Amino acid sequence: MQDPATFVDEKVEEIGNAIGDGHAIIALSGGVDSSTAAALAYEAVGDQLTPVYVDTGLMRKGETGGIRETFDYMDSLRIVDARERFLDALSGITDPEEKRHVIGEQFIREFETVAEDVGADYLVQGTIYPDRIESEGTIKSHHNVGGLPDVVDFEGIVEPMRDLYKDEVREVARELDLEEVVSERMPFPGPGLAVRVIGEVTEEKLAVAREANHVVEEELADHDPWQALAAVLGKATGVKGDNRVHGWVVAVRSVESRDGMTARAQEVDWETLQRIQSRITASHENVARVVYDVTHKPPATIEYE
Ligand code: XMP
Repeated sequence: MQDPATFVDEKVEEIGNAIGDGHAIIALSGGVDSSTAAALAYEAVGDQLTPVYVDTGLMRKGETGGIRETFDYMDSLRIVDARERFLDALSGITDPEEKRHVIGEQFIREFETVAEDVGADYLVQGTIYPDRIESEGTIKSHHNVGGLPDVVDFEGIVEPMRDLYKDEVREVARELDLEEVVSERMPFPGPGLAVRVIGEVTEEKLAVAREANHVVEEELADHDPWQALAAVLGKATGVKGDNRVHGWVVAVRSVESRDGMTARAQEVDWETLQRIQSRITASHENVARVVYDVTHKPPATIEYE
């Protein structure tokens, strides 16, 4: 990438030319990629862009409120509460790829409804270079690539960051004055907490995962990981108070990486790990254990599913 200021100028002009006097739509996930793409496109066409945030119930703690605040300046912002519909759609599904598929499908349906409503003829996406590479392989299906709405017949797709790496996207985000929480935020997968819960997605597992991820992000922020996360693995025996419990096992993972394609498990000091353990076990009555994942990628992936 040339310098971020030049990149922004060029892309704003390019996006403006591509969309003309049409109407565009973008799905905001709260992550740095879609936020940056939305800010770029909004700078280019203003309220001719409808940014849509679908609250899937699979997002990080505080995400919806954060979106509302960060993008408050965009009058056309739409927030869709789809939490119940996602949970219903995921009921009984345990296979990781099927989960991704169901989430992708439901997401498209929610998004299409708004796209039809506003009469969108262009789709803006925050796709970046590693998304395209991983989608060409067979590693995992990424629901933000390839799974485009097919009911709405878009005239064009605008992907201003398709050749950038993550660290370059962050530079662009800073250039656009996107708040530090967005520009410096760790990447978060499209299917959200659903890939940080092994097996069926239930309200209880989601609640445990949401709180545990919040603790991990907070406690490990000063370790500057590429990504730090928590996943709900399954159940094991523990003892809480005077009672034996059969509660959730939560895995904590913190990795260093440049682009997410390979990663190294991060060395974290014992004191920090113990603080994380005690906060997570205290966060929910049904958490019995916390373990730390020391596996690099490969052979593990960063996410659990
Ligand atoms: P894995 O788990 O494959 O993750 O090592 C590599 C990077 O990609 C993110 N990730 C996803 N992002 N949709 C996304 O938008 C997905 O389905 C998805 N799966 C993984 C992951 O968080 C990591 O940064």
